[in-house]
Amino acid sequence: MIGVFDSGFGGLTIHRALIDAMPEHDFVYLGDNKNSPYGTREPLDVLNLTCAGMERLIAEGCTLVVVACNTAAAVAMRWIQQQWLPALYLKDGVPRNALSIVVPTIEAATGLDWYEKRRLHDGVTTGGVVAVFATERTVATKTYPFEIRKRRPDIQVVQQACPALAGAIEAGASQDKLRAMIGEYAAALMQQLNGRAPESVVLGCTHYPLVADLFAEVLPAGIPIISQPDTTAAALVTYLERHPEYQVGRNGQRKFLSTGYVPDALHLIEKFWGEPLSFEKA
Ligand code: DGL
Repeated sequence: MIGVFDSGFGGLTIHRALIDAMPEHDFVYLGDNKNSPYGTREPLDVLNLTCAGMERLIAEGCTLVVVACNTAAAVAMRWIQQQWLPALYLKDGVPRNALSIVVPTIEAATGLDWYEKRRLHDGVTTGGVVAVFATERTVATKTYPFEIRKRRPDIQVVQQACPALAGAIEAGASQDKLRAMIGEYAAALMQQLNGRAPESVVLGCTHYPLVADLFAEVLPAGIPIISQPDTTAAALVTYLERHPEYQVGRNGQRKFLSTGYVPDALHLIEKFWGEPLSFEKA
């Protein structure tokens, strides 16, 4: 089983791309709706909740977990990979790993392979700017600027928190309202850059693929927007080719779990998944 973890239903934007790219694999999705949103939570809270999500997915038989939530990944990935998973391995000797949405995003933004620093594509030119839109917590961790500049010190990274955007998307705000809101965030970003256009844009939140066209409308024309669902799916395909040791299953099994009360959220699930979908209580 491959687990996919998110703070709620937004991660279905990523999950859909993973299933489309790897329909034969077994997947279980867990949304922590009871505790969502994570974007305004304290780091320790996000860390504990993400570890609890990992535990739940491992109990489902997952040997590989994709942390699709940017906020959870930005806060908790380092701890999970360096401390939490090794401690679990010492206990039961089962090889497991967690992958995050951050790594393929950084690879796309820098044009460099995460581990080998091999050139994947030309990416942003020397002295160029990458703009990151994300939740308040993701921005506060500085994960994206830190990881991008570690690999490409020649790139300037400018972040813009969008505190109300994920909530407005979930609340079903009109296109006009969302456009106005995104226009304000984009204007705040352009002000940080004194009007200079970024060369590439990261929409660093599971919800933003739904409004990628509005970002494209309000930003200066022609700036490439990195698609997290696509980059994450492509990264998982290559990861599985390189790591046959993870027994992830190839029976096309699906399970959708939520820690929250689902009946009230059916419209939301449909919004992020594109069609109705049944969830079980986690
Ligand atoms: N899933 C979160 C992310 O990608 C957005 C929603 C939340 O704040 O929990 O950052």
